[in-house]
Amino acid sequence: KIIVLDFGSQYNQLITRRIREFGVYSELLSHNITADEIRKINPKGIIFSGGPNSVYDDDAFRVDPEIYKLGIPILGICYGMQLMSYNLGGKVEPADNREYGHADIDVTDSQTPLFKGLPGRQTVWMSHGDLVKQVPEGFTSVATSKNCPIASIEDPKRKFYGIQFHAEVRNTQYGNEILKHFAFDVCEAKANWSMNNFIELQIKKIREEVGDRKVLLGLSGGVDSSVVGVLLHKAIGNQLTSIFVDHGLLRKGEAKQVMDSLEGKFGLNVVKVDAQKRFMDKLVGVSDPEKKRKIIGNEFIQVFNDEAQKLDGIDFLAQGTLYTDVIESGTDTAQTIKSHHNVGGLPKDMHFTLIEPLRTLFKDEARDLGEKLGMPSDLVWRQPFPGPGLGIRVLGEITEDKLNIVRDSDWILRDEIKKAGLDRDIWQYFTVLPGIKSVGVMGDGRTYDYTVGIRAVDSVDGMTADFARIPWDVLQKISVRIVNEVDHVNRIVYDITSKPPATVEWE
Ligand code: XMP
Repeated sequence: KIIVLDFGSQYNQLITRRIREFGVYSELLSHNITADEIRKINPKGIIFSGGPNSVYDDDAFRVDPEIYKLGIPILGICYGMQLMSYNLGGKVEPADNREYGHADIDVTDSQTPLFKGLPGRQTVWMSHGDLVKQVPEGFTSVATSKNCPIASIEDPKRKFYGIQFHAEVRNTQYGNEILKHFAFDVCEAKANWSMNNFIELQIKKIREEVGDRKVLLGLSGGVDSSVVGVLLHKAIGNQLTSIFVDHGLLRKGEAKQVMDSLEGKFGLNVVKVDAQKRFMDKLVGVSDPEKKRKIIGNEFIQVFNDEAQKLDGIDFLAQGTLYTDVIESGTDTAQTIKSHHNVGGLPKDMHFTLIEPLRTLFKDEARDLGEKLGMPSDLVWRQPFPGPGLGIRVLGEITEDKLNIVRDSDWILRDEIKKAGLDRDIWQYFTVLPGIKSVGVMGDGRTYDYTVGIRAVDSVDGMTADFARIPWDVLQKISVRIVNEVDHVNRIVYDITSKPPATVEWE
């Protein structure tokens, strides 16, 4: 495996992903990891990610200097290259011209393994404020660009390499080849990792950890926890009990679909709790998004806890946490953007050990896993659905009436998207109720009713997203149907912002 150390770049998760796409297992780890811990992991190579700091900042992210003595190949990307240069005695300085975007580099040493067989001039993606001005001893500069005389460095003896540009983003013409060269030619990694290995590995790991003890799973109704359920069931069968908390914030028909599949088809032991009233009682009068998220998250845990008390001898709690949830809830290097429902927030008096088998996976990898486990594709390819459910799609205070508007309009949207054959093309699509009322005219009368927003995005992993271009005629059908079929709606608007600057959900 190849490990990636996280220095906080917005692209760092893409690096692990690219490496896994080559069939080499890769994981993103904190830059605080020690050389000893790395030795235990015994990776074939280490990649230092980019990051927002300057190596001279007081609070710049650093590494254990012993890492350079492990004899393991290192590739530094952007900040990673600067840090390595700085640590090993080179000079890093602020650039005269900050570079952001496309740049052309000229490779000056065609023998260097990273650029082997690639054209001498190539387009790369730069994004940096500092530069390496002088390479450390043992290193040579192997590529230059107009604003960056030292765009790539190497020390073939120690197998240390650096690139000032981001090979992991698609805008770098030969980025994939460069990463491949590092993985296969420099690190001599083998392409023997696949989702099937992942399943075997996880099953083995789960069995070893759990032994003959019992595991509890909180099913939220979404894809991720369902996949975890099937994976765990495969590993430990009836030692798994799942609690499905129906918080009343699921989409129309969803609770039934999940029960039919998990209990009906896969034979999981599922306890379904109808807790709609408990949630609504807690949410009365609350309109702040973060408060709503916290209340829903906490209540979920409370209900879950109450049910769990009724069960005996449970030692483990399984969750469908994905890599994106981990990052967006704040890691060592990433800022908290939204508190994600699956992460943290567990009461301290719960004496469970956590099992989170999807923690290193991206959404589409989790779906792939589900399919490999034999789950029906219409379940696995359901769009992502947030833990707090429709609770964050009714903006502001939640009422039963407003929930019904969102539920019914969402149902129509989904139906029309499916009829148009777009359900697998658009990554996520749903309706929101902003809570504004506007004037309309229906028949001969004036109306004063709600506006429904349509949100549809294309994304790979939810970290960034582009608003989806639903054809006008499909939008028109959706609009007409929602206004006609859902009471108290007289206007439909279409959200045309991407993420960033917006987020996918409105709250
Ligand atoms: P945002 O709104 O953060 O959404 O751009 C990115 C993706 O994450 C989903 N989402 C959540 N998923 N728990 C989850 O499991 C949550 O609390 C949560 N909030 C947002 C969202 O639907 C989108 O797919």
